[in-house]
Amino acid sequence: MPKIKVALAGVGNCASALVQGLKYYAECGEEGRCVGLRNLVLGGFRPRDIEVVAAFDIDGRKVGEDLSEAIFAQPNNAPKLVDVPLSNVMVYMGSVLDGVGEYTKNVVQVSSHPEENVAMILKESGAEMLVNLLPSGAVKASQWYAEQALVAGCAFVNATPDFIASDAAWAQRFAMAELPLVGDDLIDQVGATTLHKTLLQLLSMNGVRIKETYQLDVGGGTESLDTLGRTKEIKRVVKTKSVEAALPYQAAVVAGSTDYVDFLQNRRDSYFWIKGVHFCNVPMQIDLKLSTVDAPNAGSVLLDVIRAVKMALERKMKGAIMPICAYAFKHPPQLMSIEAAEKLFAEFVAEEV
Ligand SMILES: NC(=O)c1ccc[n+]([C@@H]2O[C@H](COP(=O)([O-])OP(=O)(O)OC[C@H]3O[C@@H](n4cnc5c(N)ncnc54)[C@H](O)[C@@H]3O)[C@@H](O)[C@H]2O)c1
Repeated sequence: MPKIKVALAGVGNCASALVQGLKYYAECGEEGRCVGLRNLVLGGFRPRDIEVVAAFDIDGRKVGEDLSEAIFAQPNNAPKLVDVPLSNVMVYMGSVLDGVGEYTKNVVQVSSHPEENVAMILKESGAEMLVNLLPSGAVKASQWYAEQALVAGCAFVNATPDFIASDAAWAQRFAMAELPLVGDDLIDQVGATTLHKTLLQLLSMNGVRIKETYQLDVGGGTESLDTLGRTKEIKRVVKTKSVEAALPYQAAVVAGSTDYVDFLQNRRDSYFWIKGVHFCNVPMQIDLKLSTVDAPNAGSVLLDVIRAVKMALERKMKGAIMPICAYAFKHPPQLMSIEAAEKLFAEFVAEEV
């Protein structure tokens, strides 16, 4: 099987978990021993078929370093899960644009290294797709990397909540370039949004009438700090819309991120509140807390997305690829139920080429 060649925009916590996961699962042979993955094999590909061939960042502690070292450089605080050998992939300086926000300007140390020709490096590295792992507030920078992907002839994976795959104009541009585009806002493996939606669906299927519900969380990664300053509102809109879609009727729903707590490090605590009525209008309520580590929570889904995008490339699919967007992202071009998204993705995977 050919390697899947991937480039990363942003060597933060998510990138750290992804790169460590590639090493961790590289030796995995049998399904039963590969705890923590949803799919050991997807479309004939295993995690060991994925190779990171280029990486870009703007922090002086990462730029110019080997990727295997940059993933552990500050301010990254994702846990070290495995020793990563030298990769011989150097982190190149990207374009800063709006990569640093008001709240992260004291945390990110912008490198003095001049900006590299990202599109050229992408081409020379042989990257087939660019995975965008920039801070969620870096809207202009994310769009700039999407442009670089178009110039270099790479597919684009937008893990950030900024609207790219769900923006008709961007989808059209990737369609014109005959390249796949997927996004926006990656779904976590143990995701607060998915858990919230599943609980609401279960309750409503059982005849419970939900009156009001919220899900709010606090985290300690740089991304939580950036969210506080720049993307709290957009995240609230994306998550709330996604959760609302789980109920067949209207209810008072709020879902989003609330705050940053530095000592949590890369951990995230999510709080759920659900209030409704069941038999004979008798009230019920649920009060729950979910504790996860943020970056590894993205790993399994990212591995699925990368392999699915490779399948889309092999099938010469272009524009926004709905089955992947709906399966792996909170804000796909078209919102659908978890069941509908799962079915669409299973059909896509099973499709004969
Ligand atoms: N479980 C998860 O962690 C998860 C789930 C869903 C979505 N996401 C999204 O993934 C993205 C990455 O999350 P993270 O926790 O790794 O964030 P992070 O803040 O740890 O990493 C972002 C990285 O991007 C770099 N950067 C900033 N501006 C840049 C630019 N212009 N060019 C190149 N690099 C630049 C930063 O220096 C940093 O290394 C976020 O948008 C987040 O919302 C993450």
